[in-house]
Amino acid sequence: MNMTPPTTTAVTPLRPSAHFTSHTSWLNDPNGLVYHQGVYHLFFQTNPFGSTWGNISWGHATSTDLVSWTEQAVAIPATDEEMAFSGSAVVDTRNTAGFANDGETALVAIYTSARPPVGEMPGLQAQSLAFSTDDGATWTRYAGNPVLDIGSSEFRDPKVFWHGGDDGNWVMVVVDAVARKVLFYTSNNLIDWTFASDFGPAHATSGVWECPDLFPLRVGATGETRWVLIVSMNPGARAGGSGTQYFVGDFDGTTFVAERLTASDDLEEYDWLDHGRDYYAAVSFDNAPANRRLMIGWASNWDYANETPTSPWRSAMSLVREMRLVRCADGRHRLGQVPVIGEGHAGMTISEHTIAVEPGSRSTIVLDSDGATDEQVLVHFDRDGDSASLTVERGSSGIVDFHPRFAAPNRVPIGAHIASPIDVRIVVDATVIEIFLADGTQTVTEQVFPSVALSRARTQQ
Ligand code: FRU
Repeated sequence: MNMTPPTTTAVTPLRPSAHFTSHTSWLNDPNGLVYHQGVYHLFFQTNPFGSTWGNISWGHATSTDLVSWTEQAVAIPATDEEMAFSGSAVVDTRNTAGFANDGETALVAIYTSARPPVGEMPGLQAQSLAFSTDDGATWTRYAGNPVLDIGSSEFRDPKVFWHGGDDGNWVMVVVDAVARKVLFYTSNNLIDWTFASDFGPAHATSGVWECPDLFPLRVGATGETRWVLIVSMNPGARAGGSGTQYFVGDFDGTTFVAERLTASDDLEEYDWLDHGRDYYAAVSFDNAPANRRLMIGWASNWDYANETPTSPWRSAMSLVREMRLVRCADGRHRLGQVPVIGEGHAGMTISEHTIAVEPGSRSTIVLDSDGATDEQVLVHFDRDGDSASLTVERGSSGIVDFHPRFAAPNRVPIGAHIASPIDVRIVVDATVIEIFLADGTQTVTEQVFPSVALSRARTQQ
C-alpha cells in the first residue's frame, strides 16, 4: 500500500457506469461476493472517511443484474481494535454456525481482523466472522472472534465455500502472505477450523500472495472438471505492481495439486488472470445461480492506487466476468472470461474487431473521443517471427502525470494458443478499459483518466 499523497490536483470528471465505484470514498478489493434470494451482494474494502487507504471497513453494494449497483450502508466498520480486511461471505443454508433463528437464514462473512502493531507488539491478522439474519441489511460481529488465529501478522483474505453435499464441510483458502503459501482449512460450523494442507510457493513469488480463491469448472462440454486456484500477488506481477495468477488442477477436499507447474522464472510462462496493469484481488461469487462462476476484480494497482486522479471517489471494480475453462489447441487448460454487459448499458462503448496480426505490419485500435479532444489510447498488434504481441499505450490518454510508471506502455505477449486473425472485444467505461482476446482466453484491463469519454474505437493499419 503506497501512502504517498497525490501529486496532482487535476481530476477526471468521468465516473464509470457499470464498473462499481463508491459514491464518495476509497475502494479496494471486492469482498464477500455472494448471491442470496435474487440479489447479488458486493462488499468491498473501503475507507468510510476518505479517498485514500485507511480505516478499512467492508462497504456494501447490491445488484439484481450484475451491471447496475446500488451502494448500501457500510456493513462491517473498522473499530478502535481492528480493521476489517478482505474475505468472503456464504449463505449458511444448513445453519451450521447457529446464527439463524427459526425461519431465518444467516449470511456469514469471513473476514480478516487486522490489528496494527502497538509499540513492541507486532500486528496480528486472524480470521473472524460477522453475520446477517436480515438478508444482508445489517451485520453483527461474532462474539467469539477471531475464529482462526495462528499468531501471524501476515495471515489474511479467507475465501470460504461448502465442499460436498449434505455430509460435506466448509473449506477455507487463505494466505500466509509472506511465505507465498495458500493454506487450506476445513470446518463443520465456520467457527472451529482444522488445518488441511498448503500450496506454494509456486510460479510468481516476488511479491506477497493475497486474496486466494478456489473453485471447480467444467472443461468446455467434456464433462470433465478441474479446479482453479486464484492467487493475487503484489508487487512484481507480469505487467508491474499488482497482478493475479491462477493454477489449474485438482482438489480432493483437502489438497490442491496443480497440473502444470513450470520451473521457469519467466513471468510470461505463468497463467495470469489478466495481463493489464489494473486487475487485482479478483474473487468469485458464492452461491451464484445456474452454477455460474462469476468474478469481480479491483481495477487498480497498488503502484498508484492512492494517487489516481478522481474525486471524491477513488478506484473502480472490473465488470463482472463469467469464467469458463477451455482446453486449448496446445493441450493447456485456460480460463475464458466473458464480461457481463447487460442490454445496451448506457455510458459504455463496446466494440468488436477482427485483427490480422502479420509480420511487418502493425494494426492499431484507436480509442478516442471522436474529435472532442486529442486524448487517445492506442492498442497495437504486432508480430515478430512466431510471437505476436499487443501493446497498450495510455501516455496520451488524459491525466497521466500522477505517477511515474502510469504513462509507460504495457507490452503483452499474445498467447501461442491464439491464432491470427484475432477476435478482439473492447469495453470502455469512462476510466476503465477491458480488452478480451479470443473468447476471453486472454484479457487486458487498464485504467485511464481522460477529460471526455473515449467513445470511439476504430482500426488503423
Ligand atoms: C489486497 C490487500 C489484502 C488485504 C486488503 C487490505 O489488495 O492487501 O491482502 O486484506 O488489501 O485492504
